[in-house]
Amino acid sequence: MILVTGGAGFIGSNFVLDWLAQGNEPVINLDALTYAGNRENLAAVDGDPRHIFVHGDIGDFELVSRLLAEHQPRAVINFAAESHVDRSIHGPEDFIQTNIVGTFRLLEAVRAWYGQLAPEAKNAFRLLHVSTDEVYGSLAKDDPAFNENNRYEPNSPYSASKAASDHLVRAYHHTYGLPVLTTNCSNNYGPYHFPEKLIPLVIHNALAGKPLPIYGDGQQIRDWLYVKDHCSAIRRVLEGGKLGEVYNVGGWNEKANLDVVHTLCAILDELSPRADGQSYRTQITFVTDRPGHDRRYAIDATKLERELGWKPAETFETGIRKTVQWYLDNQAWVNNVTSGAYRDWLGKQYGANA
Ligand code: NAD
Ligand code: DAU
Repeated sequence: MILVTGGAGFIGSNFVLDWLAQGNEPVINLDALTYAGNRENLAAVDGDPRHIFVHGDIGDFELVSRLLAEHQPRAVINFAAESHVDRSIHGPEDFIQTNIVGTFRLLEAVRAWYGQLAPEAKNAFRLLHVSTDEVYGSLAKDDPAFNENNRYEPNSPYSASKAASDHLVRAYHHTYGLPVLTTNCSNNYGPYHFPEKLIPLVIHNALAGKPLPIYGDGQQIRDWLYVKDHCSAIRRVLEGGKLGEVYNVGGWNEKANLDVVHTLCAILDELSPRADGQSYRTQITFVTDRPGHDRRYAIDATKLERELGWKPAETFETGIRKTVQWYLDNQAWVNNVTSGAYRDWLGKQYGANA
């Protein structure tokens, strides 16, 4: 039995679906169902006795303690977080609450329960904290990619809150001997990605005939990893990672935002051409830049490959095509996600262009 937090979100739901597709070990899925949590992502395992969904907060010490005592999981994997940089700029409070205070309370609950385990169960237990490359800050054009020894230099309220959570996880290992592992991953993309993030937003807006908003000059670089590859990396670190260690996860796929959007337009032009015969590129609109926008992220995943033999299965070209096809095949999911809360956010962020 494992306990996953945030398993109704983008990466968490992909992780739960993959986990149950690959074995029979049950999952307790604790999720607060914020705007980003969607039970529909888990429709394929609805009613599956191996999947126990619990609606609740990682910051609820009593609830987490009860789940640990009742199910005695061999691992806790913490995906739960507020994850959208733009939202953190508009309102950092929820990020501090979930990413910092929530992670702290989760650690406290795990520490109290772990302390009472028998030695054998103690040896087997792992807490894996899922984090981001954004904690390392921003790279200049020719800087080497981030490795695990880079300094933490978070630049947004989101990345600062994730950095704080990483430090807490590290401290709980160092001080209390909690058996933790941390992964810092680059930008994910794939199925069930909430359409507030660049790739699903562009696919959705393109098909809806809306503007494709590019922040600033569109030359910011992100390092893209197909979500299923992130899930396989987490499984690998869970099974073989050294206690207290950090593993960077990335796909060696650095791309400028404008190039990503051009690629999406080209695939959509091919798979679902506009009725007027024009390219989706004509919908591209340059908008005001994100405040404090990090220029470049790039992950050096050498350690994970060298020590644990992990490599991504998808290239950007194969993964992005699969992703566009998934959105074309799952328009009902997209329509359901574009709910009231999401629409309010679109209005606030993009005003009349929403
Ligand atoms: P997401 O926003 O899609 O999902 C987050 C999930 O956490 C949602 O289901 C939400 O309901 C749940 N949640 C939020 N607050 C909670 C709380 N207090 N208690 C319980 N559940 C809560 O996020 P994501 O993109 O799937 O990211 C998952 C994790 O991976 C995050 O920790 C994020 O920082 C990290 N990460 C994301 C990316 C990426 O590209 N998306 C890359 C690297 C790391
Ligand atoms: O690097 C890992 C991080 O990647 C994760 O930790 C975050 O949870 C995840 O949201 C993501 O952060 P980014 O800020 O990089 O992702 P986002 O999709 O919001 O933006 C990707 C790039 O595209 C970024 O440079 C901003 C730009 N952008 C984004 C949106 C939503 C645009 O140009 N236009 C847009 O409308």
